[in-house]
Amino acid sequence: MTIRRGATQFSETAPASLRARLATEYATARRASEALAQPLAVDDYGLQAMPEVSPAKWHLAHTTWFFETFLLKPYRTGYQVFNPQFEYLFNSYYNQVGAQFPRPRRGLLSRPTVEEVFQYRAHVDAALAALLADAPEPQWPEIAARVTLGCQHEEQHQELFLTDIKYNLSVNPLQPAYRADLPSSARDGGGASGWIEQPGGIQEIGHDGAGFAFDNEGPRHRVLLPDYALAARLVTNGEYLAFIEAGGYRNPEFWLADGWRVAQECGWQAPLYWQQVDGRWRLFTLAGLRPVNEQEPVCHVSFYEADAYARWAGARLPTETEWETLVRRAAVRGNLRESGYLHPCPARDGSAQWFGDVWEWTASSYAPYPGYRPPAGALGEYNGKFMVNQMVLRGGSCVTPAGHIRSSYRNFFYPADRWQFSGLRLAQDR
Ligand SMILES: [Fe+2]
Repeated sequence: MTIRRGATQFSETAPASLRARLATEYATARRASEALAQPLAVDDYGLQAMPEVSPAKWHLAHTTWFFETFLLKPYRTGYQVFNPQFEYLFNSYYNQVGAQFPRPRRGLLSRPTVEEVFQYRAHVDAALAALLADAPEPQWPEIAARVTLGCQHEEQHQELFLTDIKYNLSVNPLQPAYRADLPSSARDGGGASGWIEQPGGIQEIGHDGAGFAFDNEGPRHRVLLPDYALAARLVTNGEYLAFIEAGGYRNPEFWLADGWRVAQECGWQAPLYWQQVDGRWRLFTLAGLRPVNEQEPVCHVSFYEADAYARWAGARLPTETEWETLVRRAAVRGNLRESGYLHPCPARDGSAQWFGDVWEWTASSYAPYPGYRPPAGALGEYNGKFMVNQMVLRGGSCVTPAGHIRSSYRNFFYPADRWQFSGLRLAQDR
């Protein structure tokens, strides 16, 4: 018997080497989250500056809750729950598990303390290590699949941890840096643009079965594409500045109706984190306030802004099928830098910027692929139930953990969201 979670298969027999490999993967993912917390002051852990972001402390507890809920409670005989009330506090959205503490109020949870959250992590880590060491063979395939999913989930929250702490720190007039020692972004990231021409025809997209994938990346299926072209690189700050200076935020001609309404209501005049100081544009980063580097990819724009910019530039946003098809043909690999954490981030030499710079808004609504069925049970709530009203983003960002991204990866956010590390690439019909 094999269990499929995405494309990862685990056979019923669990050699010691496989158990050891998963134990290492687990420990690596867990320590990485804790390393991200190191630069924080204890006063930073509870901040929640808007309903969409979560406190750092909540991320550290929720990822722990995931392993406790989906592995230790069902599979670890005699497991002692750390605190029964945590099921309510740290359940994000799994209705089949139970009720959830309201998301917009997570910042009000001064208890458990930061110290208690780290004790919770240690408690679950010890029990999980024991489970991996002696899980009964018949349960092994499902346990292994869930541990893999839990590690991928932990990595997703590492990106959210950085994304959210950036927003939480940004509202402080002191403009505190998460890490003042992050590298300068002086290297040239723009370069010549130009178009990559792609012939149309019947193509295949979706995960191809090698390695882990989330359920929403499949099934692999055929698509019919017209001839098209994608820009060879991302839209830069300098190019976006030209849109601002040309009155892009004052001219409804380029905007979708919903986007124009939101832009007016929110008073948008530039990407999130941009501010004018003495007549010059600066932006807030994880390293504090820095000058806008015109060569870097523009970041922290909503889908609405990306779409309006593309229209103004005489282009459009790519569909997710166009993006994935081109990346697969070009055999571009999702190999990220080990030390991202910063936007603006230095562009890699010779990089086509497909992976690890900014998430790229696509013109595609987040919808199930043909034949998609969410898994049974509460874990089926992981992706499937969000497939309405959101847009797909591709490519990963400078805060996506190394090794987490791939060409079939589908991220999704609401079209007005700007606090993610989101930018754009242009497309054109041919
Ligand atoms: Fe989560």
